[in-house]
Amino acid sequence: MDLHFKIFRFDPQVDRGPYFRHYTVSAEPEERILDCLNRIKGEQDGTLSYRMSCGHGVCGSDGLRINGTCRLACQALVRDFQCPEIVLEPLPGFKVLKDLVVDMEKFLEGISLFRPYLINRADPPETERKQTPGEREKLGEVIRCILCACCTASCPVSWIDARYAGPAALVWAFRYIFDSRDEDRLERLRQIDHPAGAWGCVNHFECTRVCPKEIPVTKSINQLKREIGKKLRGESGEAEK
Ligand code: SF4
Ligand code: FES
Repeated sequence: MDLHFKIFRFDPQVDRGPYFRHYTVSAEPEERILDCLNRIKGEQDGTLSYRMSCGHGVCGSDGLRINGTCRLACQALVRDFQCPEIVLEPLPGFKVLKDLVVDMEKFLEGISLFRPYLINRADPPETERKQTPGEREKLGEVIRCILCACCTASCPVSWIDARYAGPAALVWAFRYIFDSRDEDRLERLRQIDHPAGAWGCVNHFECTRVCPKEIPVTKSINQLKREIGKKLRGESGEAEK
């Protein structure tokens, strides 16, 4: 089938402003939007820029806005786009470096602020720091995050408040706050107990809707809020020092 693409183009070094360019590609229904992009670049326009690596929903590098929804180009099948035109744009709210490539630096810095690594000062055991199945269960699906940024790019709060940590950073905070092996749980909770932290989320649910790894992002943020209430404010008598 023939597919018509309208693709955002902008090279800040030479263009006076963004514009759209149109392409037509022949593709099978089982092919992916990423295959179409590769065909456009390989056969029609080598100047088109976008990111990709694994091609299988693992690296998180090909997050785009496809017909208005942020998602991975490698997980979007041609057969799901029965429309006259497929519009590809960079992730909204991110600075465009070129065409569909956005600057991820601020996003990744925001995640680094939450120290996305295990903090445990005890001497390392001979084998590994173990968890019971029940302790692992508490982490839920957040460990699937591939840092694609689709959630943060879709979050209306992130668009209007640059101070807000954003859903992806809060997913990473959750990842370690609920890890039984981490020793800085309270400090991590204090860090997100802030209007620009967990309390910045007002339950739009856009993050949950777009997450390609089906992480219940909003639910996880609400769980963080409850944990702040319990562990920092003593709601349910569980306050810790
Ligand atoms: Fe992507 Fe989901 Fe992680 Fe957000 S939570 S960065 S949408 S994988
Ligand atoms: Fe790696 Fe899509 S190319 S997630």
